[in-house]
Amino acid sequence: MAILKSLGYNLYFGNSAFNSLKAFLTKNKYSSYFILCDENTLQHCLPTLISSCPALATSNIIEIESGEHSKSIDICTHIWQTLTDNFADRNTLFINLGGGVVSDLGGFCASTYKRGIDFIHIPTSLLAMADASVGGKTGIDFNGIKNLIGTFSQPKAVFVHPDFLFTLPKRHVNNGLAEIFKIALVADKNLWLQLQSPSAFKKPEQLILKSIALKNNIVLKDPFDKALRKVLNFGHTIGHAIESHYLGSPEELLHGEAILCGMVIESHLAWQKKLLSKSELDTICKTLIRRCPNVNLPLQPILQLMQNDKKNKNQQVLFALIKKTGNATYNVPASAKQIEASVLFFNSLVK
Ligand SMILES: NC(=O)c1ccc[n+]([C@@H]2O[C@H](COP(=O)([O-])OP(=O)(O)OC[C@H]3O[C@@H](n4cnc5c(N)ncnc54)[C@H](O)[C@@H]3O)[C@@H](O)[C@H]2O)c1
Repeated sequence: MAILKSLGYNLYFGNSAFNSLKAFLTKNKYSSYFILCDENTLQHCLPTLISSCPALATSNIIEIESGEHSKSIDICTHIWQTLTDNFADRNTLFINLGGGVVSDLGGFCASTYKRGIDFIHIPTSLLAMADASVGGKTGIDFNGIKNLIGTFSQPKAVFVHPDFLFTLPKRHVNNGLAEIFKIALVADKNLWLQLQSPSAFKKPEQLILKSIALKNNIVLKDPFDKALRKVLNFGHTIGHAIESHYLGSPEELLHGEAILCGMVIESHLAWQKKLLSKSELDTICKTLIRRCPNVNLPLQPILQLMQNDKKNKNQQVLFALIKKTGNATYNVPASAKQIEASVLFFNSLVK
């Protein structure tokens, strides 16, 4: 089992991570446990968790519907109400058993209930294991805008049990790989080269651990997204606008799918800005485009949605862009004309 030190807490990685969870529960003597899950993690992950940690058998279970629509203020109200109805005090432990939706939402509810109760993440999707469970960002969507309301709050610990991935649907595996591609592109050229080979995906544990370690290194240097951490937003400025645009529609995209499109578009932007060579752009497009959803992106709504991006300053849209694979920079402005050219470039590739 591997142990990584993050911002005041440990991340336990490996299929014996639940032994560490048992020790954590014994040490901390919480007054009650609440486990947040969705219908899929309730079915596929909760039984394993409870049989590995019998102390959790008496937990209160809060089940939400799977999907991004659950990252809403209405579901927060439901969670806070359930905590209140069941007399959750400040010595309660809140356990997020699920993908990034559960950890973002549950982390937010726990960090605000009674001014904050302890919470832990037990990520069950590839995306949550490799990315969302590290870094302390919690939040919900509001008024159709991704992650508009949220906090920086660290869990007390993270327990990654990779065997949970056996039941993860294929579409969600592709979704999680998006964030692994991203961290490689911004922080590790060797990992990026490794990802070019199909055999890289035979051992997902190694990829997940590498991805967590790379993100953790960046987060430790800049916990509050003031400078260096912004590089993790590569692909997300346009990606979040794309995701928000389709949110709640029949064509709704998964987070990672929107970020894959965002990375292709923002790589083109980096090429326009002369940060990236044509051959590097070609390799990135070749690798990512076959994993992108087949969508023809509408320009105006996406430009409009980018006006709400959290990185904007003085109404200027700022990007995190790669300069050479494995290296990134941030706070790069781009004109509407440049963004338009890059979106049209993407549309020409998926045609
Ligand atoms: N806080 C952060 O740093 C951060 C980083 C990246 C993404 N995010 C957020 O994460 C969210 C996306 O996360 P996600 O892709 O994990 O979504 P998700 O939580 O909806 O999980 C994906 C799907 O897989 C199912 N699932 C999860 N684990 C399973 C398992 N072991 N077996 C079977 N089914 C399983 C879920 O029920 C769901 O249907 C987005 O809201 C995004 O904004 C947050």
